[in-house]
Amino acid sequence: MPLDPCAGAVGNDGAGRFPRNRRVTHAHPVAARRSRSCSWNSLALPRRVSLRAGVMALPLRFDGRVVLVTGAGGGLGRAYALAFAERGAFVVVNDLGGDFKGVGRGSVAADKVVEEIRRRGGKAVANYDSVEAGEKIVKTALDAFGRIDIVVNNAGILRDRSFSRISDEDWDIIHRVHLRGSFQVTRAAWDHMKKQNYGRIIMTSSASGIYGNFGQANYSAAKLGLLGLSNTLAIEGRKSNIHCNTIAPTAGSRMTQSVMPEDLVEALKPDYVAPLVLWLCHESCEENGGLFEVGAGWIGKLRWERTLGAIVRKKNQPMTPEAVQAHWKEICNFDNAHKVQTVQESTASIVEVLSKVDSEGGVSPNRTSHAASATSGFAGAVGHKLPSFSSEYTELEAIMYALGVGASAKDPKDLKFIYEGSSDFSCLPTFGVIIAQKSIMGGGLAEIPGLSINYAKVLHGEQYLELHKPLPRTGKLRCEAVVADILDKGSGAVILIDVHSYFGKELICYNQFSIFLVGSGGFGGKRTSGKIKEAVAVPNRPPDAVLTDATSLNQAALYRLSGDWNPLHIDSNFANLAGFDKPILHGLCTFGFSARHVLQHFANNDVSRFKAIKARFAKPVYPGQTLQTEMWKEGNRIHFQTKVQGTGDIVIANAYVDLVPTAAVPAKTPSEVGELQSTLVFEEIGRRLKDVGPEVVKKVNAVFEWHITRGGSLAAKWTIDLKNGSGKVYQGPAKGSADTTIILSDGDFMDVVLGKLDPQKAFFSGRLKARGNIMLSQKLQMILKDYAKL
Ligand code: NAI
Repeated sequence: MPLDPCAGAVGNDGAGRFPRNRRVTHAHPVAARRSRSCSWNSLALPRRVSLRAGVMALPLRFDGRVVLVTGAGGGLGRAYALAFAERGAFVVVNDLGGDFKGVGRGSVAADKVVEEIRRRGGKAVANYDSVEAGEKIVKTALDAFGRIDIVVNNAGILRDRSFSRISDEDWDIIHRVHLRGSFQVTRAAWDHMKKQNYGRIIMTSSASGIYGNFGQANYSAAKLGLLGLSNTLAIEGRKSNIHCNTIAPTAGSRMTQSVMPEDLVEALKPDYVAPLVLWLCHESCEENGGLFEVGAGWIGKLRWERTLGAIVRKKNQPMTPEAVQAHWKEICNFDNAHKVQTVQESTASIVEVLSKVDSEGGVSPNRTSHAASATSGFAGAVGHKLPSFSSEYTELEAIMYALGVGASAKDPKDLKFIYEGSSDFSCLPTFGVIIAQKSIMGGGLAEIPGLSINYAKVLHGEQYLELHKPLPRTGKLRCEAVVADILDKGSGAVILIDVHSYFGKELICYNQFSIFLVGSGGFGGKRTSGKIKEAVAVPNRPPDAVLTDATSLNQAALYRLSGDWNPLHIDSNFANLAGFDKPILHGLCTFGFSARHVLQHFANNDVSRFKAIKARFAKPVYPGQTLQTEMWKEGNRIHFQTKVQGTGDIVIANAYVDLVPTAAVPAKTPSEVGELQSTLVFEEIGRRLKDVGPEVVKKVNAVFEWHITRGGSLAAKWTIDLKNGSGKVYQGPAKGSADTTIILSDGDFMDVVLGKLDPQKAFFSGRLKARGNIMLSQKLQMILKDYAKL
């Protein structure tokens, strides 16, 4: 039967009783329900308390929150239970009631604390189970109060023995109570916390675990195990708003009275620890995965440090213990030590060593992301050419990209970007980034001599793209990438990577990637460079145009198919590890959306008018959010910034698109240069038809329009009219309507004519595209066979 949380709520209080505070700050159902039915007693808790000199804040309340404190029958646990109850929480006071070695059991300890809370007007229930029965303890909370918000894993015992004298039982019981007990209780609460998207958990470690202590091998092992458990729960719980922190307290208690002088036991009050636990468990506290030492009114946070270390292995040589010995001082030298924060960071820096050894053979994995040690390496890196590579693509990749950046069949104007059969099929200009991004995605950064990249600290800061020609609809572009410069921005270093992409010898596009290396600045380098394509602030007036577009929940899943496979954009666990609630959209995807908006609004989707784009990535976007591109026209420059509708966050800042002036003659695509071979064939078909026209018109009775491409772009249109009069072949689109439109390259057209390429196979392999009455195209074989012989 559920226990009445209001039982124990007595009438008015005297000094030393808990506060009456009718203000219920938490709106969840329990809080609301309880606040109506219970009357809270009040104590001298100030309405506003001083945080720091001059800063006033509301008291931290826990009204309606359900807190479970294990081992709360005495010592620290009792102090926590009383403090939570005093601030409005419903408390489950768990205690097995044995002695400090874990012998015996009883209900008195827990009952006394529950009684104390109730006497002061708080709400509490007792539970007498061992923490190993976690489910039962959590059930007490659910039965009594209907939920569980906070778990303080505090129960503990000691079985101190020097290492050689530790019995199996001494080892096991310590692990069962501390580590297994915390696991059992927390696991029982975990799913409830996940469901309600809220939870706060405390693990109680010890200085003995952190530093080791004579006679406590069993205890210190279990206590440090709790830190590992907490570190992982902090990561797994983050996305469900469950925070897990660890404390290592020092306080006088039954447990410490055997090892501390009496006056110290008296002086180190548990009340000097409880406030930290309450703060860490408050809904407004964002701390997660922290470790704190606390006692006597002092609180400090701990973290790991790693020396810069040394690589003791050389390429193609065995690694020896003698090499370890030789580098021992360096390995253990904490000067400029690195504070590794995540397992990814740790692993990435170690994996980097592999390429380091391969390329040069010896700097520390930490040095790679450490400013001071990077100085000389950076200087050597400027001018370094990354291995050249080719980017080959067909309409498939171009369409996939267009869909990835929000082009849609809903808008007929977008069809030219997503339907290869469109006569004006075009690649979106920003597809030019995809062509060049292999230099960054393909691990090219790791190849830069003298500079090792810690990928956990790499951000894509800015992007510049300039098109010298519209992108061919299909193609194989050769890309040359070079480290143009490296800048010192204090908080980080910026690497500028210039990538030029060529079709044959012709430069098609130029990209500049600005890669920000967090934490690698301050090496005394220059702050700016003549080579940088600078971002430009948007005008200080209302925008001339604003376009919005909702991204879909699948936007990142779709965009990544264009080549950025970073799991950060699809895998929740990975995103959590990187510090995000859920997977984020690629910055370059938002960039593509914005560029489409500019092209659509100011250039009527004419890709030949797109000259250049520059953008700075300011904040992440989550798939499903709506993007809002604000645009300002100043001559041929369209300034823009992109916001997330709803939050108003600027996600792309100080950006612009440069357009080719309308009067300027659009640059010719490579396909427009030079004579087409198919021209001769069409002319020949025209000549031959003169003799047999009426006969063929009778047999075929159709108009065929041909789109001949070269270098991926439309190069010529021809019409073979076998429907009207005695037939006609002419250059240009069909006068009137065509029954069938056929699209294929000049080369493939010749192969079909010469019998080297079967048109049906070409159709099914995508090399020949047809729309309209496709069946009629079969009759074409006849024409090509009989009348196109050269
Ligand atoms: P304490 O002995 O006063 O309190 C521990 C409570 O846990 C006791 O009331 C005991 O009955 C209860 N308990 C023991 N086994 C249990 C079980 N299986 N199930 C449920 N309850 C059980 O000790 P204290 O000092 O308050 O310690 C609290 C926690 O703080 C412990 O985990 C301890 O290891 C840790 N700690 C304390 C330090 C200190 O200076 N007091 C130093 C470092 C860590």
